[in-house]
Amino acid sequence: MALRQIRYDGDDILRKKCKEVKNMNERIATLIDDMLDTMYDANGVGLAAPQVGILKRVVVIDVEYDEEEDSSIVMLNPEILAKDGEQTGDEGCLSLPGKVATVTRPNHVICRYQNEEMETIEIEAEGLLARAICHEIDHLEGVLYKDVADSPLRNAETQDSED
Ligand code: NI
Repeated sequence: MALRQIRYDGDDILRKKCKEVKNMNERIATLIDDMLDTMYDANGVGLAAPQVGILKRVVVIDVEYDEEEDSSIVMLNPEILAKDGEQTGDEGCLSLPGKVATVTRPNHVICRYQNEEMETIEIEAEGLLARAICHEIDHLEGVLYKDVADSPLRNAETQDSED
């Protein structure tokens, strides 16, 4: 178990496009383990490899963490095959600590990726999981949620009294 340093907004690496993972190896396996540790340590629901300084198409997500059961999803080379519907809500990111903004995302996506065994998986996702998948895939393209937000960033702790 090892924590990696999270890169913050303003770091050029967050703006670069990530490379495909062609095969599993020790280095990628360690990266995945460290990304899961880093995400849970920071109480995040998702983390993409560029957020720890690695320009590979690797994403970890867990939108329903509980101690009893492993609900983590590891995605290599994720891509969205279809999307529909719309959801508008607050979004945050471990690379922009303490901030949120309103972002509109598809409410339903079909996503294809490779798992840690390099098997191709297709999942349907809705709601928060669909949002997390879209957010993390954006990271692999160098896009941050503030780029696609409907509102300016605001402080997560502060209740916004205006509309
Ligand atoms: Ni993020």
